[in-house]
Amino acid sequence: MNHDVERVLLTEDEVREGVKKAAAWLDEQYKDCKAPPLAISVLKGSVIFFCDLVRAMQTPVQMDFMTVSSYGSSSESSGIPKIVMDLAAPVEGRDVLLVEDIVDSGYTLVKMRALLEGRGAKSFTVVTLLDKPARRKVDVKADYTCFEVGDEFIVGYGLDYAQQYRNLPYIGVLKRSVYEK
Ligand code: IMP
Ligand code: MG
Repeated sequence: MNHDVERVLLTEDEVREGVKKAAAWLDEQYKDCKAPPLAISVLKGSVIFFCDLVRAMQTPVQMDFMTVSSYGSSSESSGIPKIVMDLAAPVEGRDVLLVEDIVDSGYTLVKMRALLEGRGAKSFTVVTLLDKPARRKVDVKADYTCFEVGDEFIVGYGLDYAQQYRNLPYIGVLKRSVYEK
């Protein structure tokens, strides 16, 4: 285990099981879709989850990426998510599947929803790997959540602190001493 990680919250096997269930749920949602949904990874946090999720799905999807930044290098959300890199594909008339790493304050999700619905998405479905409901500032919820977590700072499987720990294969709780020093 990485020495900055206090404890493992979800092992690789537990994560894999959660991803499989999310993929099955999505296949059911999209079973009558005529055109492939546009799956959007909110970078960078969701990229590892995204790659595993689309490969676990049977539904053909197209993929696109958007970089949204809200943290800088602190462990507190700034509340003002910034679009650093926009999508390549138009979303008008598309079934959009937004893939998030974690819903924390909810600001990012609210912003993404307004943006993509404003661009004329036909449907909008949000799947998140993690949800931290205790920290919510705005009333918003993903359509599907793989795992709920408590009010702790989480790293691994795509989630970072100051751009580190993203490639840990498990999901863990970061030691407070790492971000309180
Ligand atoms: P929001 O506060 O719901 O807008 O969440 C914004 C983003 O903050 C998420 O997509 C994550 O990238 C990041 N984030 C929130 N909580 C954590 C955490 O515990 N660990 C790592 N990143 C987090
Ligand atoms: Mg993120």
